[in-house]
Amino acid sequence: MGSKAKIAEGPRLFIRRSRADDAPLLSSWLEDPEVRSYYGFGGAPAAGEKSQGPGGTFLIVAKDGDHPIGFIDLECLGFRYDITIAIGDGSYRGKGLGEEAMTLAIEYAFRELDWNHLGLQVFGHNERAIRLYRRLGFRTRRRMKDRILFEGKRYDWLFMVLARDRWDARNAADPDPEGAGKE
Ligand SMILES: CC(C)(COP(=O)(O)OP(=O)(O)OC[C@H]1O[C@@H](n2cnc3c(N)ncnc32)[C@H](O)[C@@H]1OP(=O)(O)O)[C@@H](O)C(=O)NCCC(=O)NCCS
Repeated sequence: MGSKAKIAEGPRLFIRRSRADDAPLLSSWLEDPEVRSYYGFGGAPAAGEKSQGPGGTFLIVAKDGDHPIGFIDLECLGFRYDITIAIGDGSYRGKGLGEEAMTLAIEYAFRELDWNHLGLQVFGHNERAIRLYRRLGFRTRRRMKDRILFEGKRYDWLFMVLARDRWDARNAADPDPEGAGKE
């Protein structure tokens, strides 16, 4: 793998640009029932050059065996910058790897891409994801009740935002990592 492909590295994982031949893997992760139920916004993100732009699709690779476990998508939507994460390999969820991957991707977006905020969409019942996002400093900007109809059920839809200055202040001050109930 070329050194340019790897964009960030932490203790337990690294993040690299996706390649065209990652497409089947990305699609297979969307077949996972948990990912499907929480990532109901569309199909698999584009892989390889199709995904390039100001952001792109990146693979999260666990360092134990260089094993790809999920993806992060960074997308520039006009004046909005969005981030999406899914750990597709269920055996790697709930071990703090989502937090490590998000931290690396947020740093990359704010430092390398010079974005000044990140937004994300999440279903209201995805408590694990919302806890993670709040720990990272994301705050709910909009909540639409029963907005999502997915497999016959209605769910709230949340739009959460993290401003770069908030991220910087959080890291400088090392505040309450749980967000202390602030919205
Ligand atoms: C949502 C998602 C990204 C969260 O990533 P994750 O790695 O599973 O979650 P975290 O990094 O927050 O860790 C989860 C738990 O492990 C705990 N944890 C943290 N570090 C840990 C470590 N080193 N060892 C063990 N557990 C750890 C955390 O405290 C957390 O517990 P809590 O939720 O009770 O607070 C991931 O579960 C996922 O991809 N889910 C399916 C798709 C999805 O929902 N995507 C989001 C769509 S908006």
